[in-house]
Amino acid sequence: MIITVTLNAAIDKSLSVPNFRLGRRHRTVEQRTMAGGKGVNIARALKALGQPVIATGMAGGATGTHIVEELTAEAILNDFVRIRDESRTNTSVLDPTSGEQTEINERGPTVTEQEVELFRDKLLYLARGAAIVVLAGSLPRGVDVDLYATLIRELQKAGVTTVIDTDGEPLDHAVRAEPDVVSPNVLEAEELVGHEFAGEEERLMAVREIAELGPREALMTMADGCVAHVLVKDKPCLRRVRIEPREPLARRGSGDAFLAGYVAARYEGRPPDQCLRFAVACGAESTGRLGAGLIDPTQARRLMGEVEVEEVALPVEVG
Ligand SMILES: Nc1ncnc2c1ncn2[C@@H]1O[C@H](COP(=O)(O)OP(=O)(O)OP(=O)(O)O)[C@@H](O)[C@H]1O
Ligand SMILES: [Mg+2]
Repeated sequence: MIITVTLNAAIDKSLSVPNFRLGRRHRTVEQRTMAGGKGVNIARALKALGQPVIATGMAGGATGTHIVEELTAEAILNDFVRIRDESRTNTSVLDPTSGEQTEINERGPTVTEQEVELFRDKLLYLARGAAIVVLAGSLPRGVDVDLYATLIRELQKAGVTTVIDTDGEPLDHAVRAEPDVVSPNVLEAEELVGHEFAGEEERLMAVREIAELGPREALMTMADGCVAHVLVKDKPCLRRVRIEPREPLARRGSGDAFLAGYVAARYEGRPPDQCLRFAVACGAESTGRLGAGLIDPTQARRLMGEVEVEEVALPVEVG
């Protein structure tokens, strides 16, 4: 079993508004809502890829009920801790005439210490039946910034493979807890190592640098694939994985599909290069779909043929 954790679960509301103008009143021509938050999106993609997955996390208020109902309607197994404060709604407005997308993300609920404790108990209980736990997305208000780090340490002790996708300070703490896999995009990686990457060489150095902070594997994603520090037969190796970038239909969720692909392939025990190839294919496939975590597995497998994996010699020592 794979568990995904979404501590700041959401309802993602997508509105289609032709000729969207600031300061005007509009009517939507199309509107859809979906349960969201990174871990939820990853669970959706994992289910589409045929993997056994349970989505857990924290959900509160009427929006929390809505999140759980939407997940259940999609037949995504879920087991959330119910919290008092209201879960957030994230709104995105797509203007089909210009193709521009505007996003407004709510801050999300404040969580109490007891609620965090309840969640921790639930997670450790669920993890007993799990091979991999994926922790993804932002933290709600009121929790310690090192909550992911704490959970990773406890999960590692329980012998579970841990995967983390977050940003900012929570990521900074999380990598030092030595998770198995971390997968920032370029911006998140630059923030983590504290400088910008000028070119390909520096991006390769960066994944090594990130891996030296603690994670066993570091995957840095970008529109044309990823740069990865992975373990091949327990030996650290660098890979550059490429795909021809496409004109994306939606800007959200390709990282979630990427990570779902990587985790799915790992769960099946595939070798590292194949995991990377499938991850990049899944990320690319999802860019053609409106709705985070939506993915067509047949198309994704077909796209694997268009992905190039290049072995890169380890660059000079960093630091
Ligand atoms: N324009 C694109 N064309 C083809 N593939 C893409 C494109 N954008 C992203 N991908 C694929 O998706 C993967 C993840 O993309 P990206 O780096 O944009 O994730 P992200 O910024 O984490 O996204 P998210 O909003 O989901 O967090 C990439 O490794 C790549 O394989
Ligand atoms: Mg991402």
